[in-house]
Amino acid sequence: MRISVKFGAAEKESTDVIVISLFENVKKIPSELSSLDKASGGFISNSLQNKDFTGKLNETVMIPTYKKSIPKRILLVGLGKATGLSSDKIRQAAGTATRVIQGKKFKNPSMLLYKTEYKGISIEDTTRSVVEGVLLSLYNFTMYKTLKKKDKATINNFTLIVQKKDVLAKVKSVAKNTQTVAEAVCFTRDIVNMAGSDATPTFLANKAKEIARKTGVKCRTLSRPDMKKLGMGGILNVSRGSSQPPKFIILEYNTRKKNSDTIVLIGKGVTFDSGGISLKPGSGMDLMKADMSGAAAVLGAFKAISNLKPANHIVGLVPCTENMPSGSALKPGDIIKCMSGKTVEILNTDAEGRLILADAIAYAKRYKPDAVIDLATLTGACVAALGTFTSGMLGNNDKLKERVKHAGEKSHERVWELPLWKEYYELIKSNIADIKNTGGRYAGTITAACFLGEFVEDFPWVHLDIAGTFLVEKDTPYIRKGATGVGVRLLTRLILDWKKMPDARKKRKK
Ligand code: BES
Ligand code: MN
Ligand code: ZN
Repeated sequence: MRISVKFGAAEKESTDVIVISLFENVKKIPSELSSLDKASGGFISNSLQNKDFTGKLNETVMIPTYKKSIPKRILLVGLGKATGLSSDKIRQAAGTATRVIQGKKFKNPSMLLYKTEYKGISIEDTTRSVVEGVLLSLYNFTMYKTLKKKDKATINNFTLIVQKKDVLAKVKSVAKNTQTVAEAVCFTRDIVNMAGSDATPTFLANKAKEIARKTGVKCRTLSRPDMKKLGMGGILNVSRGSSQPPKFIILEYNTRKKNSDTIVLIGKGVTFDSGGISLKPGSGMDLMKADMSGAAAVLGAFKAISNLKPANHIVGLVPCTENMPSGSALKPGDIIKCMSGKTVEILNTDAEGRLILADAIAYAKRYKPDAVIDLATLTGACVAALGTFTSGMLGNNDKLKERVKHAGEKSHERVWELPLWKEYYELIKSNIADIKNTGGRYAGTITAACFLGEFVEDFPWVHLDIAGTFLVEKDTPYIRKGATGVGVRLLTRLILDWKKMPDARKKRKK
Protein backbone atom coordinates (compact mmCIF):
# COMPACT_ATOMS: atom_id res chain seq x y z
CA MET A 1 0.00 0.00 0.00
CA ARG A 2 1.17 3.48 -0.84
CA ILE A 3 0.84 6.62 1.23
CA SER A 4 1.06 9.73 -0.89
CA VAL A 5 0.99 13.35 0.10
CA LYS A 6 -0.28 16.22 -2.00
CA PHE A 7 -1.05 19.86 -1.76
CA GLY A 8 -4.48 20.85 -2.96
CA ALA A 9 -8.05 21.81 -2.20
CA ALA A 10 -10.10 19.03 -0.61
CA GLU A 11 -13.19 19.86 -2.64
CA LYS A 12 -11.32 19.32 -5.88
CA GLU A 13 -10.32 15.73 -5.15
CA SER A 14 -12.50 13.27 -7.02
CA THR A 15 -11.62 10.46 -4.65
CA ASP A 16 -13.75 7.54 -3.34
CA VAL A 17 -13.86 9.03 0.09
CA ILE A 18 -12.19 11.81 2.00
CA VAL A 19 -11.68 11.55 5.75
CA ILE A 20 -12.31 14.67 7.80
CA SER A 21 -11.65 14.66 11.52
CA LEU A 22 -13.60 16.91 13.85
CA PHE A 23 -13.69 17.71 17.56
CA GLU A 24 -16.64 16.92 19.76
CA ASN A 25 -19.56 19.36 19.85
CA VAL A 26 -18.21 21.92 17.42
CA LYS A 27 -20.92 24.46 16.72
CA LYS A 28 -19.36 25.96 13.62
CA ILE A 29 -17.20 24.04 11.21
CA PRO A 30 -13.58 25.20 11.09
CA SER A 31 -12.90 27.79 8.39
CA GLU A 32 -10.42 25.43 6.70
CA LEU A 33 -13.36 23.17 5.83
CA SER A 34 -15.82 25.75 4.59
CA SER A 35 -15.10 25.35 0.87
CA LEU A 36 -15.47 21.57 1.04
CA ASP A 37 -18.66 22.02 3.03
CA LYS A 38 -20.01 24.46 0.46
CA ALA A 39 -19.09 22.23 -2.46
CA SER A 40 -20.87 19.29 -0.86
CA GLY A 41 -24.00 21.35 -0.36
CA GLY A 42 -23.56 22.00 3.32
CA PHE A 43 -23.22 18.35 4.11
CA ILE A 44 -20.75 18.68 6.98
CA SER A 45 -22.48 21.56 8.69
CA ASN A 46 -25.86 19.84 8.33
CA SER A 47 -24.73 16.65 9.95
CA LEU A 48 -23.30 18.66 12.83
CA GLN A 49 -26.44 20.74 13.23
CA ASN A 50 -28.70 17.70 13.12
CA LYS A 51 -26.45 15.79 15.50
CA ASP A 52 -25.91 12.95 13.05
CA PHE A 53 -22.33 13.41 14.08
CA THR A 54 -21.20 14.69 17.46
CA GLY A 55 -17.45 14.17 17.19
CA LYS A 56 -16.95 11.71 20.06
CA LEU A 57 -13.59 9.97 19.81
CA ASN A 58 -13.74 7.26 17.13
CA GLU A 59 -17.33 8.06 16.13
CA THR A 60 -17.77 7.91 12.35
CA VAL A 61 -20.38 8.87 9.82
CA MET A 62 -20.14 8.38 6.08
CA ILE A 63 -21.82 10.95 3.91
CA PRO A 64 -22.31 10.37 0.18
CA THR A 65 -22.13 13.64 -1.74
CA TYR A 66 -23.63 12.35 -5.00
CA LYS A 67 -21.54 14.91 -6.81
CA LYS A 68 -18.98 14.63 -9.53
CA SER A 69 -15.54 16.24 -9.34
CA ILE A 70 -15.64 16.46 -5.57
CA PRO A 71 -15.00 13.55 -3.18
CA LYS A 72 -17.74 10.95 -3.66
CA ARG A 73 -18.11 10.54 0.07
CA ILE A 74 -17.06 12.35 3.19
CA LEU A 75 -16.14 10.22 6.19
CA LEU A 76 -16.33 12.23 9.37
CA VAL A 77 -14.38 10.86 12.30
CA GLY A 78 -14.46 12.17 15.85
CA LEU A 79 -11.39 13.31 17.79
CA GLY A 80 -13.19 13.85 21.10
CA LYS A 81 -13.08 17.14 23.00
CA ALA A 82 -10.69 19.76 21.63
CA THR A 83 -9.24 20.36 25.08
CA GLY A 84 -8.19 16.72 25.43
CA LEU A 85 -6.58 16.27 22.04
CA SER A 86 -3.49 14.07 21.97
CA SER A 87 -1.39 12.49 19.23
CA ASP A 88 -2.77 9.14 20.24
CA LYS A 89 -6.34 10.27 19.72
CA ILE A 90 -5.33 11.32 16.21
CA ARG A 91 -3.72 7.90 15.74
CA GLN A 92 -6.88 6.17 16.95
CA ALA A 93 -9.20 8.25 14.80
CA ALA A 94 -7.05 7.58 11.72
CA GLY A 95 -7.14 3.86 12.53
CA THR A 96 -10.89 3.85 13.03
CA ALA A 97 -11.52 5.70 9.75
CA THR A 98 -9.20 3.33 7.91
CA ARG A 99 -11.05 0.28 9.21
CA VAL A 100 -14.35 1.75 7.97
CA ILE A 101 -12.81 2.38 4.55
CA GLN A 102 -11.31 -1.10 4.47
CA GLY A 103 -14.73 -2.56 5.41
CA LYS A 104 -16.29 -0.77 2.44
CA LYS A 105 -13.43 -1.83 0.17
CA PHE A 106 -12.63 1.63 -1.17
CA LYS A 107 -9.32 1.58 -2.98
CA ASN A 108 -8.16 5.18 -3.07
CA PRO A 109 -9.19 7.15 -0.01
CA SER A 110 -7.77 10.48 1.08
CA MET A 111 -7.57 12.36 4.31
CA LEU A 112 -7.41 16.09 4.81
CA LEU A 113 -4.82 17.39 7.28
CA TYR A 114 -6.33 20.81 7.65
CA LYS A 115 -4.59 22.07 10.77
CA THR A 116 -0.87 22.69 10.61
CA GLU A 117 -0.46 23.06 14.36
CA TYR A 118 -2.87 22.54 17.19
CA LYS A 119 -2.05 23.16 20.85
CA GLY A 120 1.51 21.94 20.65
CA ILE A 121 0.72 19.07 18.30
CA SER A 122 2.78 19.92 15.25
CA ILE A 123 2.05 18.90 11.69
CA GLU A 124 4.93 16.39 12.03
CA ASP A 125 3.28 14.76 15.06
CA THR A 126 -0.07 14.72 13.30
CA THR A 127 1.37 13.15 10.16
CA ARG A 128 3.20 10.52 12.19
CA SER A 129 0.05 9.65 14.14
CA VAL A 130 -2.08 9.51 11.03
CA VAL A 131 0.29 7.30 9.06
CA GLU A 132 0.75 4.99 12.04
CA GLY A 133 -3.01 4.85 12.60
CA VAL A 134 -3.66 4.02 8.96
CA LEU A 135 -0.98 1.37 8.51
CA LEU A 136 -1.15 -0.28 11.92
CA SER A 137 -4.96 -0.57 11.82
CA LEU A 138 -4.74 -2.50 8.56
CA TYR A 139 -2.43 -5.11 10.04
CA ASN A 140 -4.00 -8.54 9.99
CA PHE A 141 -2.24 -11.81 10.72
CA THR A 142 -3.22 -14.20 7.94
CA MET A 143 -0.13 -16.41 7.65
CA TYR A 144 -1.96 -19.56 8.70
CA LYS A 145 -5.33 -18.82 7.04
CA THR A 146 -6.07 -20.77 3.89
CA LEU A 147 -8.61 -18.20 2.66
CA LYS A 148 -6.26 -15.23 2.60
CA LYS A 149 -8.01 -13.09 -0.01
CA LYS A 150 -10.96 -12.18 2.16
CA ASP A 151 -8.73 -10.70 4.83
CA LYS A 152 -6.41 -8.80 2.55
CA ALA A 153 -6.22 -5.05 2.71
CA THR A 154 -7.84 -3.56 -0.37
CA ILE A 155 -6.58 0.00 -0.17
CA ASN A 156 -4.07 0.80 -2.93
CA ASN A 157 -3.21 4.34 -2.16
CA PHE A 158 -4.00 6.58 0.77
CA THR A 159 -3.55 10.27 -0.03
CA LEU A 160 -2.90 12.84 2.64
CA ILE A 161 -3.95 16.28 1.51
CA VAL A 162 -2.45 19.45 2.92
CA GLN A 163 -3.91 22.84 2.17
CA LYS A 164 -0.73 24.81 2.85
CA LYS A 165 2.14 24.45 0.45
CA ASP A 166 4.87 25.27 2.94
CA VAL A 167 4.26 22.08 4.96
CA LEU A 168 4.19 19.74 1.96
CA ALA A 169 7.86 18.73 2.00
CA LYS A 170 7.84 18.14 5.76
CA VAL A 171 4.67 16.05 5.66
CA LYS A 172 6.08 14.02 2.78
CA SER A 173 9.28 13.15 4.57
CA VAL A 174 7.59 12.36 7.89
CA ALA A 175 5.04 10.16 6.09
CA LYS A 176 7.80 8.24 4.35
CA ASN A 177 9.81 7.66 7.52
CA THR A 178 6.73 6.71 9.47
CA GLN A 179 5.80 4.15 6.87
CA THR A 180 9.20 2.53 7.41
CA VAL A 181 8.54 2.37 11.15
CA ALA A 182 4.99 1.04 10.73
CA GLU A 183 6.24 -1.70 8.42
CA ALA A 184 8.80 -2.67 11.06
CA VAL A 185 6.03 -2.85 13.67
CA CYS A 186 4.05 -5.18 11.39
CA PHE A 187 7.15 -7.30 10.83
CA THR A 188 7.51 -7.62 14.61
CA ARG A 189 3.81 -8.45 15.07
CA ASP A 190 4.11 -11.17 12.44
CA ILE A 191 6.97 -13.00 14.10
CA VAL A 192 5.40 -12.66 17.55
CA ASN A 193 2.08 -14.05 16.30
CA MET A 194 3.75 -17.04 14.66
CA ALA A 195 3.57 -20.49 16.19
CA GLY A 196 6.35 -21.38 18.60
CA SER A 197 7.36 -24.38 16.53
CA ASP A 198 7.87 -22.11 13.52
CA ALA A 199 9.42 -19.04 15.10
CA THR A 200 12.32 -20.97 16.64
CA PRO A 201 15.71 -19.54 17.66
CA THR A 202 17.07 -20.63 14.27
CA PHE A 203 14.19 -18.89 12.51
CA LEU A 204 14.86 -15.64 14.41
CA ALA A 205 18.56 -15.88 13.58
CA ASN A 206 17.68 -16.26 9.90
CA LYS A 207 15.33 -13.27 10.10
CA ALA A 208 18.16 -11.21 11.57
CA LYS A 209 20.47 -12.29 8.75
CA GLU A 210 17.80 -11.35 6.24
CA ILE A 211 17.51 -7.86 7.76
CA ALA A 212 21.29 -7.56 7.58
CA ARG A 213 21.41 -8.68 3.96
CA LYS A 214 18.77 -6.19 2.92
CA THR A 215 20.09 -3.20 4.83
CA GLY A 216 23.81 -3.65 5.16
CA VAL A 217 23.94 -3.87 8.95
CA LYS A 218 26.36 -6.41 10.35
CA CYS A 219 24.98 -9.64 11.75
CA ARG A 220 26.61 -12.57 13.52
CA THR A 221 24.96 -15.40 15.35
CA LEU A 222 26.58 -17.46 18.06
CA SER A 223 25.79 -21.16 18.26
CA ARG A 224 26.27 -23.54 21.18
CA PRO A 225 30.07 -24.02 20.75
CA ASP A 226 30.63 -20.22 20.61
CA MET A 227 28.49 -19.79 23.71
CA LYS A 228 30.49 -22.48 25.49
CA LYS A 229 33.73 -20.67 24.70
CA LEU A 230 32.30 -17.47 26.15
CA GLY A 231 30.94 -19.26 29.21
CA MET A 232 27.36 -18.19 28.57
CA GLY A 233 25.95 -20.38 31.31
CA GLY A 234 22.61 -18.55 31.39
CA ILE A 235 21.41 -19.26 27.88
CA LEU A 236 23.17 -22.65 27.67
CA ASN A 237 21.44 -23.96 30.78
CA VAL A 238 18.01 -22.63 29.83
CA SER A 239 18.31 -24.35 26.46
CA ARG A 240 19.31 -27.72 27.94
CA GLY A 241 15.80 -29.13 27.89
CA SER A 242 15.07 -28.16 24.31
CA SER A 243 15.75 -29.94 21.04
CA GLN A 244 15.99 -26.58 19.30
CA PRO A 245 19.55 -25.20 19.31
CA PRO A 246 19.90 -21.78 21.01
CA LYS A 247 21.12 -18.78 19.02
CA PHE A 248 22.66 -15.55 20.21
CA ILE A 249 22.08 -12.86 17.60
CA ILE A 250 24.40 -9.86 17.31
CA LEU A 251 23.39 -7.00 15.06
CA GLU A 252 25.50 -3.93 14.55
CA TYR A 253 24.54 -0.72 12.80
CA ASN A 254 27.30 1.84 12.20
CA THR A 255 30.58 1.70 14.05
CA ARG A 256 31.81 3.29 17.21
CA LYS A 257 32.87 6.90 16.67
CA LYS A 258 34.31 9.53 18.95
CA ASN A 259 31.42 11.95 18.74
CA SER A 260 28.52 9.58 18.75
CA ASP A 261 27.11 7.21 21.32
CA THR A 262 26.94 3.44 21.42
CA ILE A 263 23.49 2.18 22.31
CA VAL A 264 22.92 -1.51 22.98
CA LEU A 265 19.42 -2.95 22.58
CA ILE A 266 18.75 -6.33 24.17
CA GLY A 267 15.62 -8.45 23.65
CA LYS A 268 14.47 -11.58 25.46
CA GLY A 269 14.05 -14.28 22.85
CA VAL A 270 12.40 -17.22 24.58
CA THR A 271 10.60 -18.68 21.59
CA PHE A 272 8.47 -20.88 23.81
CA ASP A 273 8.31 -20.72 27.59
CA SER A 274 6.74 -23.87 29.01
CA GLY A 275 8.31 -23.03 32.37
CA GLY A 276 10.73 -25.94 32.02
CA ILE A 277 10.75 -28.46 34.90
CA SER A 278 8.84 -25.83 36.94
CA LEU A 279 6.14 -26.35 34.33
CA LYS A 280 3.50 -23.66 33.83
CA PRO A 281 -0.18 -24.53 34.16
CA GLY A 282 -1.83 -25.55 30.87
CA SER A 283 -4.31 -22.72 30.53
CA GLY A 284 -2.83 -19.78 28.67
CA MET A 285 0.45 -21.56 28.01
CA ASP A 286 -0.10 -21.01 24.26
CA LEU A 287 0.61 -17.31 24.82
CA MET A 288 4.16 -18.21 25.75
CA LYS A 289 4.93 -18.59 22.05
CA ALA A 290 5.17 -14.79 22.31
CA ASP A 291 7.82 -14.84 25.04
CA MET A 292 10.21 -13.59 22.34
CA SER A 293 8.40 -10.26 22.02
CA GLY A 294 11.43 -8.37 23.31
CA ALA A 295 13.62 -10.09 20.71
CA ALA A 296 11.11 -9.35 17.96
CA ALA A 297 10.99 -5.69 19.02
CA VAL A 298 14.76 -5.36 18.78
CA LEU A 299 14.76 -6.99 15.33
CA GLY A 300 11.93 -4.68 14.24
CA ALA A 301 13.70 -1.63 15.62
CA PHE A 302 16.83 -2.65 13.72
CA LYS A 303 14.85 -2.98 10.53
CA ALA A 304 13.52 0.56 10.98
CA ILE A 305 16.82 2.04 12.17
CA SER A 306 18.89 0.56 9.37
CA ASN A 307 16.52 2.16 6.87
CA LEU A 308 16.29 5.54 8.58
CA LYS A 309 20.03 5.83 9.18
CA PRO A 310 20.41 7.78 12.42
CA ALA A 311 23.87 8.89 13.52
CA ASN A 312 24.73 6.61 16.44
CA HIS A 313 26.32 3.21 16.82
CA ILE A 314 23.55 0.73 17.61
CA VAL A 315 24.11 -2.85 18.72
CA GLY A 316 21.37 -5.45 19.02
CA LEU A 317 21.89 -8.48 21.28
CA VAL A 318 19.20 -11.11 21.11
CA PRO A 319 19.59 -14.34 23.08
CA CYS A 320 17.15 -16.92 21.70
CA THR A 321 16.16 -20.27 23.17
CA GLU A 322 13.20 -22.40 24.14
CA ASN A 323 12.48 -23.20 27.78
CA MET A 324 11.39 -26.84 27.81
CA PRO A 325 11.24 -29.72 30.27
CA SER A 326 13.08 -32.94 29.44
CA GLY A 327 15.50 -35.43 30.92
CA SER A 328 18.35 -33.09 30.22
CA ALA A 329 16.63 -29.90 31.35
CA LEU A 330 17.87 -27.48 33.99
CA LYS A 331 16.49 -28.41 37.43
CA PRO A 332 15.37 -26.44 40.45
CA GLY A 333 18.25 -26.56 42.90
CA ASP A 334 20.91 -26.48 40.19
CA ILE A 335 23.72 -23.96 40.42
CA ILE A 336 24.88 -22.37 37.20
CA LYS A 337 27.63 -19.92 36.28
CA CYS A 338 26.74 -17.04 33.99
CA MET A 339 29.08 -15.33 31.53
CA SER A 340 30.04 -12.62 34.01
CA GLY A 341 31.30 -15.33 36.37
CA LYS A 342 28.49 -14.95 38.90
CA THR A 343 26.90 -18.16 40.17
CA VAL A 344 23.13 -18.52 40.35
CA GLU A 345 21.01 -20.88 42.40
CA ILE A 346 18.02 -21.96 40.35
CA LEU A 347 14.89 -22.00 42.48
CA ASN A 348 12.41 -21.96 39.64
CA THR A 349 13.20 -22.87 36.04
CA ASP A 350 10.32 -20.65 34.93
CA ALA A 351 12.40 -17.60 35.87
CA GLU A 352 14.46 -18.22 32.71
CA GLY A 353 14.33 -14.86 30.96
CA ARG A 354 16.66 -13.21 33.46
CA LEU A 355 19.21 -15.99 32.96
CA ILE A 356 19.56 -15.45 29.23
CA LEU A 357 19.47 -11.66 29.64
CA ALA A 358 22.27 -11.88 32.21
CA ASP A 359 24.58 -13.24 29.51
CA ALA A 360 23.47 -10.62 27.00
CA ILE A 361 24.08 -7.80 29.50
CA ALA A 362 27.51 -9.23 30.29
CA TYR A 363 28.24 -9.42 26.57
CA ALA A 364 27.17 -5.78 26.13
CA LYS A 365 30.14 -4.66 28.25
CA ARG A 366 32.60 -5.20 25.39
CA TYR A 367 30.98 -2.37 23.43
CA LYS A 368 31.62 0.15 26.24
CA PRO A 369 28.02 1.27 25.83
CA ASP A 370 26.69 4.74 26.59
CA ALA A 371 23.26 3.20 27.10
CA VAL A 372 21.85 -0.31 27.35
CA ILE A 373 18.12 -0.92 27.03
CA ASP A 374 16.62 -4.35 27.44
CA LEU A 375 13.06 -5.40 26.62
CA ALA A 376 11.56 -8.56 28.04
CA THR A 377 8.27 -10.28 28.77
CA LEU A 378 9.82 -10.94 32.13
CA THR A 379 7.27 -11.19 34.93
CA GLY A 380 3.60 -11.94 35.47
CA ALA A 381 3.99 -9.65 38.47
CA CYS A 382 4.34 -6.68 36.12
CA VAL A 383 0.89 -7.36 34.70
CA ALA A 384 -0.47 -7.62 38.24
CA ALA A 385 1.15 -4.33 39.26
CA LEU A 386 0.64 -2.16 36.19
CA GLY A 387 -1.94 -3.87 33.97
CA THR A 388 -1.83 -3.80 30.21
CA PHE A 389 -1.58 -0.11 29.33
CA THR A 390 2.03 0.46 30.29
CA SER A 391 5.31 -1.37 30.39
CA GLY A 392 7.33 -1.43 33.59
CA MET A 393 10.57 0.57 33.62
CA LEU A 394 13.50 0.12 35.98
CA GLY A 395 17.04 1.32 35.62
CA ASN A 396 20.14 2.89 37.08
CA ASN A 397 20.33 6.23 35.29
CA ASP A 398 17.85 9.09 35.57
CA LYS A 399 18.81 10.70 32.28
CA LEU A 400 18.27 7.50 30.31
CA LYS A 401 15.02 6.75 32.16
CA GLU A 402 13.80 10.25 31.30
CA ARG A 403 14.59 9.71 27.61
CA VAL A 404 12.88 6.34 27.52
CA LYS A 405 9.84 7.78 29.29
CA HIS A 406 9.66 10.63 26.79
CA ALA A 407 9.99 8.29 23.80
CA GLY A 408 7.26 6.16 25.36
CA GLU A 409 4.93 9.12 25.58
CA LYS A 410 5.66 10.28 22.04
CA SER A 411 5.02 6.83 20.60
CA HIS A 412 2.21 6.08 23.06
CA GLU A 413 4.13 2.99 24.13
CA ARG A 414 4.09 4.29 27.64
CA VAL A 415 6.31 3.15 30.47
CA TRP A 416 5.96 3.55 34.23
CA GLU A 417 8.83 3.44 36.63
CA LEU A 418 9.16 1.04 39.54
CA PRO A 419 11.89 1.52 42.18
CA LEU A 420 15.16 -0.37 42.11
CA TRP A 421 16.42 0.46 45.58
CA LYS A 422 19.28 -1.47 47.09
CA GLU A 423 17.03 -3.00 49.77
CA TYR A 424 15.40 -5.09 47.06
CA TYR A 425 18.74 -6.58 46.07
CA GLU A 426 18.77 -8.36 49.44
CA LEU A 427 15.85 -10.48 48.28
CA ILE A 428 17.88 -12.33 45.66
CA LYS A 429 20.87 -13.21 47.82
CA SER A 430 21.53 -16.94 48.00
CA ASN A 431 23.00 -19.03 50.80
CA ILE A 432 24.94 -21.31 48.52
CA ALA A 433 25.54 -19.26 45.35
CA ASP A 434 26.12 -15.58 44.62
CA ILE A 435 22.45 -14.93 43.85
CA LYS A 436 19.23 -16.88 43.29
CA ASN A 437 16.91 -16.58 40.34
CA THR A 438 13.71 -15.73 42.21
CA GLY A 439 13.08 -13.22 44.95
CA GLY A 440 10.11 -14.64 46.81
CA ARG A 441 6.48 -13.61 46.89
CA TYR A 442 6.72 -9.86 46.79
CA ALA A 443 7.82 -7.29 44.20
CA GLY A 444 8.43 -9.86 41.46
CA THR A 445 9.10 -7.29 38.75
CA ILE A 446 11.60 -5.44 40.91
CA THR A 447 13.50 -8.53 42.06
CA ALA A 448 13.69 -9.69 38.42
CA ALA A 449 15.20 -6.31 37.51
CA CYS A 450 17.59 -6.55 40.49
CA PHE A 451 18.74 -9.87 39.08
CA LEU A 452 19.57 -8.15 35.79
CA GLY A 453 21.13 -5.27 37.71
CA GLU A 454 23.66 -7.74 39.16
CA PHE A 455 25.16 -8.04 35.67
CA VAL A 456 25.13 -4.36 34.78
CA GLU A 457 28.45 -2.63 35.18
CA ASP A 458 28.99 1.12 35.15
CA PHE A 459 26.93 1.85 32.04
CA PRO A 460 23.51 3.53 32.01
CA TRP A 461 20.86 0.84 31.78
CA VAL A 462 17.10 0.65 31.51
CA HIS A 463 15.00 -2.50 31.67
CA LEU A 464 11.50 -2.56 30.20
CA ASP A 465 9.18 -5.32 31.38
CA ILE A 466 6.69 -5.72 28.53
CA ALA A 467 4.75 -8.67 30.00
CA GLY A 468 1.59 -6.55 30.12
CA THR A 469 1.92 -4.85 26.76
CA PHE A 470 3.13 -7.46 24.27
CA LEU A 471 -0.41 -8.59 23.43
CA VAL A 472 -3.91 -7.18 23.39
CA GLU A 473 -6.83 -9.45 24.11
CA LYS A 474 -9.27 -7.62 21.87
CA ASP A 475 -9.15 -5.30 18.88
CA THR A 476 -8.37 -1.63 19.51
CA PRO A 477 -8.47 1.15 16.86
CA TYR A 478 -4.98 0.38 15.56
CA ILE A 479 -4.01 -2.91 17.16
CA ARG A 480 -5.83 -6.12 16.36
CA LYS A 481 -6.12 -8.91 18.93
CA GLY A 482 -2.71 -10.49 19.26
CA ALA A 483 0.81 -9.11 19.15
CA THR A 484 1.15 -5.34 19.55
CA GLY A 485 4.71 -4.98 18.31
CA VAL A 486 5.41 -2.96 21.46
CA GLY A 487 8.89 -1.49 21.67
CA VAL A 488 9.54 -0.89 18.00
CA ARG A 489 8.06 2.60 17.95
CA LEU A 490 9.48 3.51 21.34
CA LEU A 491 13.01 2.38 20.45
CA THR A 492 13.00 4.04 17.05
CA ARG A 493 11.72 7.29 18.53
CA LEU A 494 14.35 7.13 21.27
CA ILE A 495 17.16 6.57 18.78
CA LEU A 496 16.01 9.09 16.19
CA ASP A 497 15.76 11.79 18.90
CA TRP A 498 19.05 10.75 20.55
CA LYS A 499 21.39 13.47 21.75
CA LYS A 500 24.83 12.60 23.01
CA MET A 501 24.72 11.39 26.61
CA PRO A 502 26.69 14.04 28.52
CA ASP A 503 28.00 12.36 31.66
CA ALA A 504 28.14 8.71 30.78
CA ARG A 505 31.65 8.43 29.42
CA LYS A 506 33.17 10.90 31.81
CA LYS A 507 31.81 8.92 34.70
CA ARG A 508 33.28 5.73 33.34
CA LYS A 509 36.81 7.16 33.25
CA LYS A 510 36.92 7.36 37.04
N1 BES B 1 7.61 -15.29 30.40
C1 BES B 1 7.24 -15.31 31.76
C2 BES B 1 6.56 -14.04 32.22
C3 BES B 1 5.23 -13.70 31.59
C4 BES B 1 4.06 -14.03 32.20
C5 BES B 1 5.18 -12.95 30.43
C6 BES B 1 2.86 -13.68 31.63
C7 BES B 1 3.98 -12.60 29.88
C8 BES B 1 2.82 -12.95 30.47
C9 BES B 1 8.48 -15.49 32.62
O1 BES B 1 9.48 -16.26 32.08
C10 BES B 1 8.04 -16.17 33.87
O2 BES B 1 7.61 -17.28 33.79
N2 BES B 1 8.15 -15.47 35.00
C11 BES B 1 7.76 -16.02 36.24
C12 BES B 1 8.82 -15.66 37.25
C13 BES B 1 8.66 -16.35 38.57
C14 BES B 1 8.87 -17.84 38.43
C15 BES B 1 9.64 -15.77 39.54
C16 BES B 1 6.43 -15.41 36.63
O3 BES B 1 6.18 -14.23 36.34
O4 BES B 1 5.60 -16.12 37.20
MN1 MN C 1 9.21 -18.31 32.46
ZN1 ZN D 1 9.56 -16.36 30.06
